[in-house]
Amino acid sequence: MSKASDLFTLKNKNKVEVQFIAKGGQITSIKVPDAAGKMADVVIGYDSVDAALAGDGYFGALCGRYANRVVKGKFSIDGVAYQLDVNNGPNHLHGGLDGFNNRVWEVKAVKIAKFAQAYELSLVSEDGDQNYPGKLKVKVIYGLSDDNEFVIEYAAETSKPTIINLTSHAYFNLKGAGTGTIENHELLINAFRYTPIDGIIGTVTGKIDDVAETAMDFTESKKIGLACNSDDAQVKLVDGIDHNFVINNYDGTIKLAATLVDPTSGRKMEVFTDQPGVQIYTGSHFDGSEIGKLGAPIIKWAGVALETQIFPDSPNKANFPNAVLRPGETYKHTCVYKFSN
Ligand code: BGC
Repeated sequence: MSKASDLFTLKNKNKVEVQFIAKGGQITSIKVPDAAGKMADVVIGYDSVDAALAGDGYFGALCGRYANRVVKGKFSIDGVAYQLDVNNGPNHLHGGLDGFNNRVWEVKAVKIAKFAQAYELSLVSEDGDQNYPGKLKVKVIYGLSDDNEFVIEYAAETSKPTIINLTSHAYFNLKGAGTGTIENHELLINAFRYTPIDGIIGTVTGKIDDVAETAMDFTESKKIGLACNSDDAQVKLVDGIDHNFVINNYDGTIKLAATLVDPTSGRKMEVFTDQPGVQIYTGSHFDGSEIGKLGAPIIKWAGVALETQIFPDSPNKANFPNAVLRPGETYKHTCVYKFSN
């Protein structure tokens, strides 16, 4: 049985290193080189496992059963209504009060040819857990390749019709955690459209809008600060970016979702996924009151999360992708974070 504080390490031939703990499968560090070979830890978080256990439970964590928001925690399947926890204003966020980020995952090392090292994390979520229907069996692979790809492969099966949307919640700062904000990072998002939010309900309206001529236009690489510091009404609602982008030409195969570059160090991260969406969240709620890596306060915009996913509130939006999983089906999701310089 894994313990919350158990710490696991993945390494490849280039000395890239990923560490995570059993609680929440929380990724606690990812160390990657710049062009001169200088390593930096590019995920924000804490300097010790004890601090990670006591700190923000979403940092680097696996989120579920339904990552992101479900409006008022309500949804129906086959005419049966369910009420989930309401833990974020009027809405349900990241699986509720005791989401998967809070669980101790069972972790074991596995050998998979395409990875230098890999672990399997598994969890059984009982029927009725956080009011979700169906007993859900989840398996997640964390794999590190010699091409500097950190890969997350999710799979899940259910005993009753249910909803599912798993994601990973690491916030990246490619200059290095604790070195300031990501305003200077350049971001490209492979999305001509996004799902705007509503200031009153705090989640998606159900519309799918073009990014063209808005702050959300990252179809060509641009500095994140240009959007975060703009007067765009959507940006103002959340003091930054906290939006789901609709990945172009979604067809269930793996496509580029986004490319993030820190021009100072030259470190680059490409995100690939087979999911229809990616939530870009610039960490607007950090207020510097917590001390993170390098002893630096965790400030607003200290990192950016790129959460591959189904769209927020899909269970209640007929025009959004399907988030229902039925017995006999397997939920599958791949997310690749590929580092270069
Ligand atoms: C959401 C944010 C939320 C954060 C919590 C993100 O995935 O988009 O709105 O504040 O998670 O850590």
